[in-house]
Order: sequence, then C-alpha cells, then structure tokens
Amino acid sequence: MAHKVTLLPGDGIGPEVSKAVVRILEATGLKFEWEEFAVGAEAFEKYKEYVPRAAYESIERTKVALKGPVTTPIGGGFASINVMLRKKYELYANYRPIKNLPGIPTRYPGVDLVIVRENTEGEYVGIEHEVVPGVVESLKIITEKSSMRIARFAFEFARRYKRGKVHAIHKANIMKMSDGLFLRCCRDVSKQYPEITYAEHIIDNTCMQLVTNPYQYDVLVTPNLYGDIISDLCAAFVGGLGLVPSANLGEFAAMFEAVHGSAPDIAGKNIANPTALLQSAVLMLRHFKEEDAADQVQNALEFVYRKRKDRLTRDVGGTAGTSDFADAVVETMAGKLVESKT
Ligand code: NAI
Repeated sequence: MAHKVTLLPGDGIGPEVSKAVVRILEATGLKFEWEEFAVGAEAFEKYKEYVPRAAYESIERTKVALKGPVTTPIGGGFASINVMLRKKYELYANYRPIKNLPGIPTRYPGVDLVIVRENTEGEYVGIEHEVVPGVVESLKIITEKSSMRIARFAFEFARRYKRGKVHAIHKANIMKMSDGLFLRCCRDVSKQYPEITYAEHIIDNTCMQLVTNPYQYDVLVTPNLYGDIISDLCAAFVGGLGLVPSANLGEFAAMFEAVHGSAPDIAGKNIANPTALLQSAVLMLRHFKEEDAADQVQNALEFVYRKRKDRLTRDVGGTAGTSDFADAVVETMAGKLVESKT
C-alpha cells in the first residue's frame, strides 16, 4: 500500500532539497502518493491564498506532511505559514534531535540531545498592535493545557527512549507568571517520572552552559521562542543548519521539516544540503513504522558522510551539488557506491 503524503516543497532552497529527498525516498522501494502544493508567496500569486484550500484538504486526508522551508517577510507582510500550519493542526510538539553525523569534525564530538519545543503559543501567537504611535504591545500566551501537554510529551519521550534527564528551560525569574506557569507544569509532570532526573535552567544560562558543556543535557523542554533560538545554536554543534531535522507532532497530524529556513543566499544554485530534510524524512518513515526503510536511508546517508567526502555538499566540506549528494545516497542504497581511495 502506498503512503499518502502531502508534499509542500516551499520556496528558496525548498524545491531543490525536496526533489532530492523525494528521489531518495522513492529509491527505498516503498510506494508513495505525493500530493504536492505550493504555499507562501508563490501560492498567493497563483491562487490568492497563502495556503491553498486544496493543501489543507490534503493534510486533513493524509495526516502527514513533508515540508520544505517557506520565506516569511520580516517586519511586515503575511504571517508565517509554518506557524499557521503548526497552530491550525495543533502540532504542539516540535521534536528536534541534535546528533553528530560521522565524518564531520566538530568542536564537540558525540553530542546527542533532543529539544522538545512547545509549538503553538508563547510569543508566536502573533497578537500585536500599536497602542499609540511609538508604542507596540505584543502578547505572549502561556496556558496550563499546552504546558502540561508539552511537559508530558518530553517525559514520555524520555521514558520511552531511556533518556535519563529532562531540563525545563525558562525565564521565570523575569516572566514570573507566564514562564512561571510553564515551569510549574514541568515540575508537576516530573513527579510522575521518578526515574528521570529533572532540572531547570534559565534560558540565558542555558546558552552559556550549552556552548561550554553540551554533554550535560539530554532532553530540553522549552516554550516556543527559546526552543527556536537554541535549535540553531545546537545545530552548530553537529555541523550546521544543513543537517538538523525536526518533526511537528499533534494528535491529529504530523509535519516533518528541516530546522533551517529558505536560505535565499544559496537558493537556485544546486548547492544546498538536503540532509536536514532527508533526516526529517527518516523521522517520517519511522512515524509510518517503516523502520527498515528508515534504517536503509540513515545508513546510506551515514556511509556517504563517512566514506565519500567528495560527494558531500560545501557546507560540510565537500564539493558536490544537492543532486549529486542525492545520487550518492541512492547509489549507496543500491550497493553501487564504493569507498573513496582519497
Ligand atoms: P536560514 O536557515 O534560511 O539560513 C541561515 C544560514 O544557513 C544561511 O547562510 C544559509 O545559507 C544556511 N543554510 C540554511 N539551510 C542550509 C542548507 N540546507 N544547506 C546549506 N546551508 C544552509 O535562515 P534565515 O536566513 O534566517 O531565514 C531565511 C528565511 O527562511 C526567512 O524568511 C525565515 O522566516 C524563513 N524560515 C523558514 C523556516 C521554515 O520554513 N520552517 C524556518 C526558519 C526560517
């Protein structure tokens, strides 16, 4: 039976990395039915809608989306399509594993931590208005319901994957009520998981602690904004934004996407690294319980990183293009790529 997936390639480098990933997924031998839609500025030009109705209907049917990055105008223009989709389908848990790939020298080898970011509220509710000229009010919403839900997700995840520690990340010394509520929920939930060590770190200290000793962390549960910021920081531990995947999970649907954005500086040049979206697609295969195919893709990808630096993209020290890297992964899966002599 074919897996039905809503494919939103996005813009900037999105179409290039999506094409590479679809090609690799098809090479697993699994069958996919892709329902593909443009979203964002391109969709607005064609349909006068940033997310066409047909794309929403597709997600409601397939319940699984694979999404490339979408450009969001800065300081004006339309609201983030990413935030819109996460809120509409209550994709409340943004799960971001940070793990080194073989063959990429980094300052800290062997990092293995997971960011669990609340994905539906905080500063991202987008409720802002000008009170009087020169004064803008922006609301940050934290609810008990969402904080309990994300805390339970983090602890359940830690229990299932035998991770020993959960840190709640906050700024409750200043935002005593909002982050205070988030923290109280994490504390309450932690009591039901006595086998898991629970700790709390203030976000600014977390940044310092992360760059000093990332090994002290295991699972970090965060409100929306702090999770967004430390995800990019942590991406640097493992070789950059071209590598880090994510899953947006809710009760009703799941959306898999890279942590990175549309990278306009390198778009259209066939040099973007598709690894982040590919590793997101591996999470999607695991969501489908296609463990063999997931392992097949992950092993092939790691073989290319370990043995064929010449087939890697430039951001990780290679010279290959996006499509050449995808070819190398497909050749590895077919048993046709041999170790480089150099
Ligand atoms: P960005 O993540 O697009 O780029 C930051 C830096 O990382 C750039 O130098 C870029 O070339 C590099 N980079 C990113 N992905 C890469 C890849 N796959 N391979 C090689 N290098 C890569 O962040 P930026 O520039 O802040 O945002 C650009 C646009 O993307 C903005 O409109 C932003 O709103 C949007 N964005 C969308 C996201 C999404 O759709 N989920 C997430 C983050 C940002």
